[in-house]
Amino acid sequence: MSTMVDLRAVTKRFGSFTAVNDVSLEIAEGEFLTLLGPSGCGKTTLLRLIAGFDTPTEGSVWIGGEDVTHLPPYRRPVNQVFQSYALFPHLTVAENVGFGLRMQHIDKTEAAARVTEALALVSLTGLDARKPHQLSGGQRQRVALARALVCRPKVLLLDEPLSALDAKLRRSMQLELKRLQRQLGITFVFVTHDQEEALTMSDRIAIVNGGRIEQLGTAHEIYHRPATRFAADFVGQANLLEAQLLLQDSECVRVAVTGGLELTLPLAAWPAGATVALIAMRPEKVHVSKSRSSTAFAPGAANIFQARIEEEIFQGATDHLILVTAAGTRLGVVVANESALGDIFHAGDLVYCGLHTDDLVVVKAE
Ligand SMILES: Nc1ncnc2c1ncn2[C@@H]1O[C@H](COP(=O)(O)OP(=O)(O)O)[C@@H](O)[C@H]1O
Ligand SMILES: [Mg+2]
Repeated sequence: MSTMVDLRAVTKRFGSFTAVNDVSLEIAEGEFLTLLGPSGCGKTTLLRLIAGFDTPTEGSVWIGGEDVTHLPPYRRPVNQVFQSYALFPHLTVAENVGFGLRMQHIDKTEAAARVTEALALVSLTGLDARKPHQLSGGQRQRVALARALVCRPKVLLLDEPLSALDAKLRRSMQLELKRLQRQLGITFVFVTHDQEEALTMSDRIAIVNGGRIEQLGTAHEIYHRPATRFAADFVGQANLLEAQLLLQDSECVRVAVTGGLELTLPLAAWPAGATVALIAMRPEKVHVSKSRSSTAFAPGAANIFQARIEEEIFQGATDHLILVTAAGTRLGVVVANESALGDIFHAGDLVYCGLHTDDLVVVKAE
């Protein structure tokens, strides 16, 4: 697939402050790419550089194979949707959606047809004559989306477009947006600080931290193979354990982690020549059982150890357990709540834990 957006070694400084630091990123045509990171990490600045509202201090911006670094926003095949909707309150839904077409002096009949089509795309047929204050938050966001789509951009930039919506509406809009993106085949660059949203919607996620891209990958790669401490901690939950090398053979290494628990990892996962490293362990990868011979441990659960349940936190579909191993290592673990008859695990219980060697991931400490 061809590249639609290409950021080449882009740096953006405001005075002495570096908001975007040497970012290179290729976004494919038709891709749903999410910029995910905490507040202030540079996500909006990256979007503004693609849109042309800001110019890079260094590097260049390419869209559709063309160097657009010095083109103004209206000359770029890009449109955007903001968190705040930015609708004109005195204009109707149809007038808001058709605004960009009027600016482009598009023929009235064609403009009306395109507005109708755009409203149908976002399930707002029949609401043409309403004013923004007569709409719900979700409907207003759909108007903003229709207004951006009606201009048929090659790239749609979405800056935290769902963050003003309540949790339930937000989840249904996530699925709807994703469906719309697939249907239209437009390249989406979507910004969020919400990791669940990023995992749900994206073809690929770029984790942004301090103006840099820390990791770029599919949701699956980012979640199962986080590259850095920040990525492991920001997306999902992770036990982060300092590991000290004890032994190694041709296939495996044996390490002792914070607190004293000893674990086995594949040799290939361990950084060559290192004596210490940081390990990320997802809480649901630890299988917990009252019996040492649990089938959940086999095959390949080379790490089997005992632990005491210090705390049990009921979370509906899952139970969150805080475990302390015999050696004194504390681990957060998540188990499915499969029985309505009562919890299987209780604080104070002694349990066995099984962990596959492949579920221990060495991450960069910084
Ligand atoms: N026009 C500007 N002048 C000075 N600093 C700015 C400007 N725009 C953004 N910044 C700073 O750059 C950093 C990144 O901002 P932003 O891209 O808005 O982050 P995000 O969208 O990830 O929350 C922040 O520290 C912000 O204060
Ligand atoms: Mg922002």
